[in-house]
Amino acid sequence: MLLIRGGDVIDQSGRRRADVLIDGDRIVAVGIGLQVGSGASVLDADGAVTCPGFVDLHTHLRQPGNEEAETVETGSRAGALGGYTALVAMPNTSPATDSVAMVRQVRQWGEAAGLADVHPAATITAGRSGEQLADLAALYADGVRVFTDDGNEVADAALMRAALELARQLPGAVIAQHAECAALVAAGHLNEGPVAQALGLVGRPGTAEEITVARDLALVALVGGNVRYHVLHASVAATVELIRRAKAAGLAVSVEVTPQHLTLTDACCSGADPTFKVNPPLRREEDLLALRDALRDGVIDAVATDHAPHTPDTKARPFASAPPGMLGLETALAVVVGRAGIPLERAIAALSWQPARIAGLSEHGRPIAPGEPANICVIDPNRRWEVIADRLASKSHNTPFAHWTVTGKVRHTVLRGTPTVIDEVAQR
Ligand code: DOR
Repeated sequence: MLLIRGGDVIDQSGRRRADVLIDGDRIVAVGIGLQVGSGASVLDADGAVTCPGFVDLHTHLRQPGNEEAETVETGSRAGALGGYTALVAMPNTSPATDSVAMVRQVRQWGEAAGLADVHPAATITAGRSGEQLADLAALYADGVRVFTDDGNEVADAALMRAALELARQLPGAVIAQHAECAALVAAGHLNEGPVAQALGLVGRPGTAEEITVARDLALVALVGGNVRYHVLHASVAATVELIRRAKAAGLAVSVEVTPQHLTLTDACCSGADPTFKVNPPLRREEDLLALRDALRDGVIDAVATDHAPHTPDTKARPFASAPPGMLGLETALAVVVGRAGIPLERAIAALSWQPARIAGLSEHGRPIAPGEPANICVIDPNRRWEVIADRLASKSHNTPFAHWTVTGKVRHTVLRGTPTVIDEVAQR
């Protein structure tokens, strides 16, 4: 038996004072003043909040192919420390995760690490080449629900239409797009605007995102049949408006935003520090504010980290040749609540049950109630801490939040009834 004692519970039915009792991998009781025998373990939640474990729709675990930057194990540990019980692993590995055999291998690495449920996404196109579809039906039959060529958009409209038509036949499958019109961003390194100009670097216009999202939404409407489409890492205000209208029209679309796009702008790039290089790039203040509003009002469904580890030597290259990407798993909660000012209840929804629904994960993001799987995290919303890049569990150190003092920290994480993090220390 495991008792989480003290604090408030926050889940789909709101906020209330309650302890949580777990037996095996399930919650067995929720209430005030729960008692256990001397053999039971107790996790202290005094002054804290107990909520469903977080689900990241967008994690780069880098295995296979770039294990110097991250492995499934190190990324899972970072996830557990960030309150995550499930991670959707991006398929832009090397080779790309585009086959049943590879999906099974990534899952197996996740099981061996045992620190979070790792659910591999698979590519939309074979080899992520953008030329022909991967075997989506076979991947789906093996349990894959999220399909994406993340890192690149699926540029070919006919191919995108074919992917949507196939996904329409596969209940719960979602086509997730890296929405940046490839032709418009091909040579670009950061947001197109005065900062790029001052640095003498080619930009990536926000319009590139708007064009791809608008095109895809037209294809979603054409394909019909409630096909599911998801916009990865939205970065511009125009995307918010397109999605708002698409939802109002009844399309089955969803959208995520990253902590970095809620808190950083392209002004961060003015010193040409590649830590701030990411795709889609950091945008303007007005985009950031529109994204915050849309997350608050529910047009944006989920916060996803786009945790993208890169080794120190690759991130030490000049801005134009450094790889894009930032860490995110261990800092997401603090950045979203403590810095972007998203109300705690809303942030938890966007970090747990909403992404679980999008990814079709029926064992995560569940209510804190008897009979439910014990995938839980306990967070201390008032705890202040300093982000120190070298002390993060990720194998890489490329956090844009280094030296920030932030508020809000994960205290414990519980995966299927077993603590993976106790008092901020990972258990494996
Ligand atoms: O900045 C990014 N890095 N954006 C992506 O879409 C891919 C990611 C990566 O894999 O490093």
